[in-house]
Amino acid sequence: MSFTADRLLLFGATGDLSQRMLLPSLCALDADELLDPDLRIIGTARSDLDDASFRNLAREALEKYLPAERRGGMANFLNRLSYQQLDATTPDGFSDLAAKVGELKKGLAIFLSTAPSLFEPTIKGLQHAGLDGDHVRMCLEKPLGVDLTSSCEINDAVAQAFPEDRIFRIDHYLGKETVQNLLALRFANILFEPIWNSNYIEHVQVTVAETVGLEGRVAFYNDAGALRDMVQNHMLQLVAMLAMEPPTSFDATAVRDEKVKVLRAMRKVTAAETVTGQYRAGAISGEAVPGYDEELGKHSDTETFTAIKGHIDNWRWKGVPFYLRTGKRLPERVTEIVVQFRCVPHSIFAGMGATMEPNRLVIGIQPEENITLNLTAKVPGLGQDGIRLRPVPLNIAMPDAFVGQHRRIAYERLLLDLIEGDQTLFVRRDEVEAQWQWVDSIREIWNSTDQKPKTYTAGTWGPSAAIALAERDGVSWHE
Ligand code: BG6
Repeated sequence: MSFTADRLLLFGATGDLSQRMLLPSLCALDADELLDPDLRIIGTARSDLDDASFRNLAREALEKYLPAERRGGMANFLNRLSYQQLDATTPDGFSDLAAKVGELKKGLAIFLSTAPSLFEPTIKGLQHAGLDGDHVRMCLEKPLGVDLTSSCEINDAVAQAFPEDRIFRIDHYLGKETVQNLLALRFANILFEPIWNSNYIEHVQVTVAETVGLEGRVAFYNDAGALRDMVQNHMLQLVAMLAMEPPTSFDATAVRDEKVKVLRAMRKVTAAETVTGQYRAGAISGEAVPGYDEELGKHSDTETFTAIKGHIDNWRWKGVPFYLRTGKRLPERVTEIVVQFRCVPHSIFAGMGATMEPNRLVIGIQPEENITLNLTAKVPGLGQDGIRLRPVPLNIAMPDAFVGQHRRIAYERLLLDLIEGDQTLFVRRDEVEAQWQWVDSIREIWNSTDQKPKTYTAGTWGPSAAIALAERDGVSWHE
């Protein structure tokens, strides 16, 4: 059903995600006059707050997390907010919540970011209070389970109250401009698509490196680990967007139909195709940082790094390895995709002593948003002793190409789409389940072979086995 919501209900409204991302994103949208003037935002959580104290909390969060130049009209934004305390484990408080939401003129969007154990009681409570009709859509934030079984349980519980076309599963990577730009790069340019296959592409690398460690998320992270925290969602979505067939239109069904085909075609990896690691004390940008076990205060077998050599079993990608790696406490924060093309089939320069490097496309997602295509060019000179060739970068720095556009928080795009009801950048149930299926198979391999994380020093690129994983194939990670 198409409607622009005039009520937004935020579960977990006092939590970290809300303070760092959701409230700042909504305020920034408001400052840009992108929110319906009638939109009211109701926060709910366990904390005993009233409207005024919730607005204070929101003001402090905005001052901390939203740059001053994007806070124009903050007072107006704060006026949209109200608060209702709720204990989601019992249905009792939900009718007060419904009263606070009030009568809907257009519709309600609910943002649910909660512990997995609270999904079911929350859905029941919402149903009980009548907050589940045709004019209500439900947005879910991860973690949506810890494996396929628990993910299906959550999806089943939500499906009892909401049909799939009113469920919006967030993967915040899809809200990033540069991730959406992957689609523009591939499908708005004639250049790449004809060579975007195993005939011309030798391998692909996807790196999501972080310098941060546990960041106060000890319990969550230690139960999750890098595979479930980053690969299951963000990295597989990047792979799906990189590898999918051209959808017929930029439409939720068309795009997601193509992504899910890729996710289902991911081959189960073997033990030799994965590496796991856990950081030990080291230094990041010259500053000493403790090891994972020290931060945690106990021994743990949770991986803070993983590298995987994946394959997509279909015609387009036959024999093309996708090297994925992600980790905490790596030397720099960088998310990038490298598409390594093959060598030309025959070099006319070979007899002249020239060496040639194959073309390489590097797509910087963050922090640098740039696209670099390495082309081979002749080094200027008369060439009496042969022709000299060298790769030269064709470089597009996105911020320079689009001066005057501010960098948006990924949640701005996603919250706006949720309010307006566009599911294109949200993950469909079949995608999530295909992602879990692949990830579960990797965890099974780790368990059955008793694979434990190898240690690496904080501030390095993971255990040496990760380098060997690529080097065995004659591939070097792009650094
Ligand atoms: C989250 C993970 O989903 O993504 C975090 O739970 C991680 O562990 C974060 O730090 C990374 O997001 P971004 O946008 O900073 O790359």
